[in-house]
Amino acid sequence: MKPPLLLTLAATFTVNLAAGATPPGVLDLTRLENYARQPVPAYVTRDNTPPDNPITDAGATLGRVLFHDLRLSKTNTVSCASCHDQAHAFSDPDLASTGVAGTTGRHSMRLVNARFAREPRFFWDERSPTLEHQSTQPIRDHVEMGFSGTAGDPTFAALTAKLAVIPEYRVLFAMTYGDTTVTEARIQKSLAQFVRSIQSFDSKYDAGRTTTPDDQDFPNFTEQENQGKRQFMLSVAQGGAGCASCHAPPTFDIDPASLNNGVIGKIGGGQDLTNTRSPSLRDLMGPAGPNGPFMHDGSMMGLGQITNHYRSAIPDNPNLDPRLRRPALPFTNAQLAPLRAFLHTLTGSAVYQDPKWASPFTAGGALELLVLPASALRLESGTAGSPGTLTLRGQAAPNLDYRIEASISLGLADAWKTIATRRSDAAGRIEHPVAMTSERMFYRLVFDVPAP
Ligand code: HEC
Ligand code: HEC
Repeated sequence: MKPPLLLTLAATFTVNLAAGATPPGVLDLTRLENYARQPVPAYVTRDNTPPDNPITDAGATLGRVLFHDLRLSKTNTVSCASCHDQAHAFSDPDLASTGVAGTTGRHSMRLVNARFAREPRFFWDERSPTLEHQSTQPIRDHVEMGFSGTAGDPTFAALTAKLAVIPEYRVLFAMTYGDTTVTEARIQKSLAQFVRSIQSFDSKYDAGRTTTPDDQDFPNFTEQENQGKRQFMLSVAQGGAGCASCHAPPTFDIDPASLNNGVIGKIGGGQDLTNTRSPSLRDLMGPAGPNGPFMHDGSMMGLGQITNHYRSAIPDNPNLDPRLRRPALPFTNAQLAPLRAFLHTLTGSAVYQDPKWASPFTAGGALELLVLPASALRLESGTAGSPGTLTLRGQAAPNLDYRIEASISLGLADAWKTIATRRSDAAGRIEHPVAMTSERMFYRLVFDVPAP
């Protein structure tokens, strides 16, 4: 008996890759990035992931494509990433962000460690009950992405219909949810998985916190940084600046009970007392300077203005947090330089660079999905148990249906016969036993993009 030969063919949406880095515009679904099993430090114990939407590598990959896709706006000109730029910790250097019909009423928020936030409601005014709910609000917004169904805008159903006929979404929805149906709930789940996957725990603070509790000096900090840490952590009564009571370590997100902090302006003028949420204070500063102006109205350009605000007696307003109804702190702004140095230690580096959060599209907006790599099929003899049987093993994209075809000849195009249809498992493995024959046999895996 001659052993069967193996042939692997590039299928639809397949490009040949040399081993190594994936080129821009190519998403290799057979080697998904790790979103689901990222290490989280032991001292971070909160997690707002709901039981019905755990992060999966497939779901977050779909979320990544959606997040960076200009086609999620009615004009094909605005994506989530237009206002949430990785180079700025997923915020916007502009005071107000530009959508399809004007500019936003509030400053864009950094999307770092949203998964670990104690306050489970999102937006500056906490109007969104969950991250899932939040994630399609910008799409439904007339100014931001324009599928509002009002003021002459298309409805959300027009967006699901638009995505449902795009071949790469047919593959990605089938890979993630088992079939190609595009629904708002599926879009929400995948976008929320992607946003929850964006984490930043490689700061100087984390290096110190790994070995040392917050109430002791960190060995890797300068004397000034340790002094600033005390100013941040200690209450006003203890001689500190009282920041940790609202922005508690190690996540530095907002106390769910917080009212406003006295920043009550609006972009373009007027008053707004409703803003009681803050993004985590991690990654305020980026590699190239501040990650945009700060506060919901973008009224503070740097850390100096921030510490000056908090050291002052804050003018009262009906929704001012009681903790801030107090006289000025006994610090000059210069004496709060250590506090500013400490805030700099909360900046990581991977979040700005890791390709798993970057756009999968080329600059021209193209995307190729690689669903079957050139070396997809492997033959392993003698593993199937029964004599005369071999096992075909393929590494493919997870949870998709592939046809296994066999042929006695490479030269005859119509000699290929489908011998089985197999769904790859969650890790992308495909196995199929084949009988050894007296003839030479060729096998290939074929992936058909599901028809609309
Ligand atoms: C036109 C600019 C723009 C676009 C497009 C946009 N956002 Fe935002 N995003 C903002 C602004 C501004 C805020 C704060 C708005 C507010 O609080 O009223 C925000 C807030 C958020 C928040 C809340 C963060 C927190 O900690 O509370 C999340 C999450 C978010 N956006 C995700 C997304 C996703 C996902 C998309 C794409 C579907 C998207 N954004 C599209 C500008 C934008
Ligand atoms: C009473 C609760 C409270 C205290 C105490 C507090 N903050 Fe805040 N902080 C907030 C709230 C609420 C916001 C969101 C403000 C807004 O509407 O823009 C905020 C926003 C911020 C921001 C802007 C974040 C961004 O992404 O733009 C920074 C920086 C900040 N606080 C630093 C500090 C520092 C430093 C201290 C200590 C000196 C401190 N905070 C004390 C409640 C508090």
